[in-house]
Amino acid sequence: MSRRPYIAANWKMNKTAAEADEFLDAFLPTQSAGGPEGVICPTYLALARVAERCAGTPVGSAAQNMHFEDSGAFTGEVSAPMLLDLGVDAVILGHSERRQLFGETDEALARKVRRAIEAGLQPILCVGETEAERRSNDTDAVLSHQVLTDLAEVHDADLAKVVIAYEPIWAIGTGLTATPEQAQESIQFIRNLLRGRDTAVADRVRILYGGSVKPANAAELLALPDVDGALVGGAALDPDDFGAIVAAAPAE
Ligand code: PGA
Repeated sequence: MSRRPYIAANWKMNKTAAEADEFLDAFLPTQSAGGPEGVICPTYLALARVAERCAGTPVGSAAQNMHFEDSGAFTGEVSAPMLLDLGVDAVILGHSERRQLFGETDEALARKVRRAIEAGLQPILCVGETEAERRSNDTDAVLSHQVLTDLAEVHDADLAKVVIAYEPIWAIGTGLTATPEQAQESIQFIRNLLRGRDTAVADRVRILYGGSVKPANAAELLALPDVDGALVGGAALDPDDFGAIVAAAPAE
């Protein structure tokens, strides 16, 4: 089953709109149609600029979070229709920093994933275990709970619209990368969970690895049979490094 590689740049709380422009000036000319699907996820404040500049290019844009309601008294939040209005293509949901630092719950995520799909935004759902959970052999139980709860409100027919990012929390921003065996094993486990929902769709869902991906380790990780791309943080702040990671993705 061939799945088009998906490589996302998660800028987190980095880059002003002017700095996003500088990145795109260097990065966009290097991208051509037919390669992996590349997506830039800037802060909300640079999102309009990135969406506008990426329109008509092979590169897409994504938000780093959204609310499940369309409007209302939710100070500090943004909604799916607001993102669509800017021409945004996708939205990261459930990044471990949102879960750990800002109290994101699986129950809210189930509603967010459903709302994103209904609205026509591609959800990039992040899941992953802590170091303590891995040490106590709870990785499978944690992944199973997150994947099954967060996707509970998605119809089987829509599952292939979700991109899942497996990001072991102990590998995010730490310089520690999961070994190829660990990445393949956990991502295969997630695909098997989806198989429990719908066998045919499980082979179409793209599942990414995230956690200290860099030009030096990207090719090895991206070549793994169940790894369909990468969610890149630190190394995605530099257009040359991110370009090298995109270039390391195998052809579909
Ligand atoms: P990192 O971040 O590449 O800096 O480890 C990945 C992520 O948090 O998405």
